[in-house]
Amino acid sequence: MSANIEELERRRAAARLGGGEKRIAAQHAKGKLTARERIAVLLDEGSFEELDMYVEHDAVDFGIDRQRIPGDGVVTGSGTIDGRLVFVFSQDFTVFGGSLSERHAQKICKIMDMAMKVGAPVIGLNDSGGARIQEGVASLAGYAEVFQRNVLASGVIPQLSLIMGPCAGGAVYSPAMTDFIFMVKDSSYMFVTGPEVVRTVTNEVVTQEELGGAITHTTRTGVADVAFENDIEALMAARAFISLLPANNRSGVPELPSDDPWDRLEDSLDTLIPANASQPYDMHELVRKVLDHGEFFEIQPAHGANIICGLGRVEGRTVGVVANQPTVLAGVLDINASRKAARFVRFCDAFGIPIVTFVDVPGFLPGTAQEHGGIIKHGAKLLFAYAEATVPKITVITRKAYGGAYDVMASKHLRGDLNYAWPTAEIAVMGAKGAVEIIFRGLSPEEIAEKTQEYEERFANPFVAASRGYIDEVIYPHSTRKRIVLGLRKLRGKQLENPWKKHDNLPL
Ligand code: HXC
Repeated sequence: MSANIEELERRRAAARLGGGEKRIAAQHAKGKLTARERIAVLLDEGSFEELDMYVEHDAVDFGIDRQRIPGDGVVTGSGTIDGRLVFVFSQDFTVFGGSLSERHAQKICKIMDMAMKVGAPVIGLNDSGGARIQEGVASLAGYAEVFQRNVLASGVIPQLSLIMGPCAGGAVYSPAMTDFIFMVKDSSYMFVTGPEVVRTVTNEVVTQEELGGAITHTTRTGVADVAFENDIEALMAARAFISLLPANNRSGVPELPSDDPWDRLEDSLDTLIPANASQPYDMHELVRKVLDHGEFFEIQPAHGANIICGLGRVEGRTVGVVANQPTVLAGVLDINASRKAARFVRFCDAFGIPIVTFVDVPGFLPGTAQEHGGIIKHGAKLLFAYAEATVPKITVITRKAYGGAYDVMASKHLRGDLNYAWPTAEIAVMGAKGAVEIIFRGLSPEEIAEKTQEYEERFANPFVAASRGYIDEVIYPHSTRKRIVLGLRKLRGKQLENPWKKHDNLPL
């Protein structure tokens, strides 16, 4: 071997060692993989091509000039997932705690710029102590350079963040601006200010996990989308998720061969809706029976669970599913559900993913908590998202579609392309009893019961809406998949553009 090659080998080996054996062992002891091990799990075997392996910081303060480690705390490059190109950065906690220096940021920016040029997703594996303290403002500048790119890339290429260690302070805002965040239970956390500062400022005593762990963010706050048990599970899920995403906003959805019959009939759906109108049923059953092989990647399953959002395939092509969930809060729309679904609908629309909506919604959740929490603005987000979406939109009303929520849930009036209803659908301003109590105030209970029945007979069906053309067809539940397949085939060539504008003014 020539001396040059030997030198290259030596340098590569040094870079691969990151912060050294001791720190790698410490990382493993915490149940965490190293930055490179994570990349190896995430990407197709042998597909990773690293860039900037020899980049080092040039800071001098506080003795850091005596410590230079090739790579400077982040491993960057590209590779493939199921043969499709992705760019990746993986912060190396063994090197200065994965903290972000100016050079570290430059490495991330370089792969983001390349991903934008060629139209491929960026996956960030975050495990960092935040701004490199010894660098001061140069590090802050580095963060801002990344933030700016997150924003410009939003809606152009998919951006996925995996939080696999600390992510604190202003550092949280880069993942926050990406499309989806996955977290690892017990080893990852995200907060703007940590427990120490919280205690000093507000006297609250709280653990890292309670303040910003994976459970907190995937249940209470909705900041993160899915929580996983460990690094491997999170990385494998990221592979599955990326395989559902388009490469960019012009590429169209990925298409895989599918041997699930397009015209598969599901007789069990004919009895999915219980005889008693106030009895719930699990909407997941319908979602899974419609999608290829019953496979569904759910987003935020534990937050705003009264609405189901996620991706699956129909005839091998990715679709977004939004569905009210009668088993949680009767499927009502509240602040969390509206925000969650609005963001998901906008993601699908930005990336050309058709949206299939299953509706069983009794309306918006009443109460001071909702009103004072701004349900007006939050509910408007979902309405806005559906109304502006130009991707193919297919809607199936299974049972209730009451009030404003009828309009919001991808109704015909919001440019729904194909609006179907099951024979069990009830499309009305509100539930029959409530309606009668308002318009026939003062009647005896017997008279109310009689009028309620009259109201139900008149409105608790899909045919009034169908007679006006608001419902395109009342379909057999068992043929729902077939109808959706045929609809999506028809809509492949859909062309619809909104009027030119700099951007809209979504009710934030
Ligand atoms: C430089 C850092 C560092 C940082 C950690 N290290 N954070 N070096 N800058 N921000 C180094 C440590 O010196 C240590 O080096 C190694 O990384 C591992 O750190 P430990 O503290 O030993 O690890 P652990 O006990 O697991 O604690 C991890 C930690 C803690 C919770 C992240 O290190 C920590 O609190 N770090 C500081 C976090 C912080 O305040 N960051 C700035 C936030 S402000 P050795 O050589 O001993 O291995 C911010 C603003 C961003 O980020 C603004 C953007 C707009």
